[in-house]
Amino acid sequence: MKTFKLAVAGGGSTYTPGIIRSLMDRLEDLPLSEIRFYDIDGERQAKVVVAAKAVIEEYTDKIKVIDTTDPQTAFEDVDFVFAQMRVGKYAMRELDEKIPLSHNVVGQETCGPGGLAYGLRTIAPMIELIDYVEKYAKETAWIVNYSNPASIVAEGVRKLRPNSRVLNICDMPVATMRNIAAILGVEREELEVDYFGLNHFGWFTSIKVDGVERLPEIREHVYKYGLLTEDISKIDYRHADSSWIKTFKNIKLIMDHFPEYLPNPYLQYYLFPDHIVETSNKEYTRANEVMDGREKTLFETVKKYEETGILEDSFAVGVHGTFIVDVTVSLAQNLGKRYLVMVENNGTIPNLPADAMIEVPALITSDGPKPEFVGDIPYFYKAMIDQQLASEKILVEAIVEGSYEKALQAFTLNKTLPSAKVAKAVLDDLIEANKEYWPTLT
Ligand code: NAD
Ligand code: LMR
Repeated sequence: MKTFKLAVAGGGSTYTPGIIRSLMDRLEDLPLSEIRFYDIDGERQAKVVVAAKAVIEEYTDKIKVIDTTDPQTAFEDVDFVFAQMRVGKYAMRELDEKIPLSHNVVGQETCGPGGLAYGLRTIAPMIELIDYVEKYAKETAWIVNYSNPASIVAEGVRKLRPNSRVLNICDMPVATMRNIAAILGVEREELEVDYFGLNHFGWFTSIKVDGVERLPEIREHVYKYGLLTEDISKIDYRHADSSWIKTFKNIKLIMDHFPEYLPNPYLQYYLFPDHIVETSNKEYTRANEVMDGREKTLFETVKKYEETGILEDSFAVGVHGTFIVDVTVSLAQNLGKRYLVMVENNGTIPNLPADAMIEVPALITSDGPKPEFVGDIPYFYKAMIDQQLASEKILVEAIVEGSYEKALQAFTLNKTLPSAKVAKAVLDDLIEANKEYWPTLT
């Protein structure tokens, strides 16, 4: 049977051991001969690879593991690259969240000014990664990308490397489906959904099981409990932190106002920015929660394993791991399975721009994603998407041209920012904080 070589870019990610477990669980569908870990922070990655190797050893001794900071060693002759880089790491995520909040604006890693700041840091390293992969990997190699902010990354890749084999994915739609399935008491795989939008900016328009529409039932449930099961312990580790429980409860807030479709949870930041700011702790944000939680636990687990040889499995990342592996199996084996992924519009939603990077159902084949026709969308959603799309597209233009004015336009158009005055104040503070990472904006 054909075997594959896979590289993980951002090998030092907190998600790495969990994704490796998901890969090991699917070795029959995706047989691997090598896994290469690549990161620019070799020290961080080395610790994470201790855990990743321990997971691999539970399953097989047949996979060669390479831990490297050298791009050629990492990507030479590989078939797949999983990209999960956090440019600037948690220190910068914390600033993405806290600087906007200090101006009473949403502080979030992918939405609002924090997401735009993260985008300004990520495009150049993402393009560098694509160039490495095109130089060293197999011609048929695919990059399956989780690196955020996915919408801006997808637009940057579309504009700067239009022919590259990059499939941008996100675990939020599938995590939302996990909650829907738990509420309906069915398996996630039994759901057939329709969905449209941009990444972190979309809506489920239909949720069927065995051909029967269940969206009305979900709507009734959300009115009572938000998008959570009555017993919230049923929600898996990946979204069990208090901020995520609050986010899934906020689906009720959104649907109390707009019951037509089930929203992506991230829409809370655009539709209720005032409420989000009022209920945020400016001193302790999601970055702190992750650093004190997932990140700390991972490094403590590695330390304990090195001292005792006991591997406490704190790595289950649930749908985050299973989804990237599902998509990759479909790419590798040309299965044509239907998943929600990011694609260039090209008429899938005729009343949105053809060059928008949208998130919709697509069949995943060895030649890439084949989106299903969606059709025109109602004006309210179109108007929201057009505004957000403009903000993201202009941000990418600002990066390419090094334009301060375009960056300010992008910030001003973002729905989380109340005025050009506030947009400028937030942008100027973020420029100061991101000197090491952003292109010069003049
Ligand atoms: P993390 O900080 O734990 O790990 C990211 C790693 O990327 C770090 O080890 C860092 O050194 C490395 N890195 C930074 N710049 C790099 C570069 N230029 N080349 C190679 N490596 C580089 O982050 P995490 O919380 O585990 O998240 C990993 C990524 O996954 C982030 O981009 C995050 O936003 C994204 N994410 C996406 C989803 C989704 O569904 N789309 C969900 C969760 C996380
Ligand atoms: C993360 O996992 O840190 C994020 O990318 C999403 C979240 O959980 O805030």
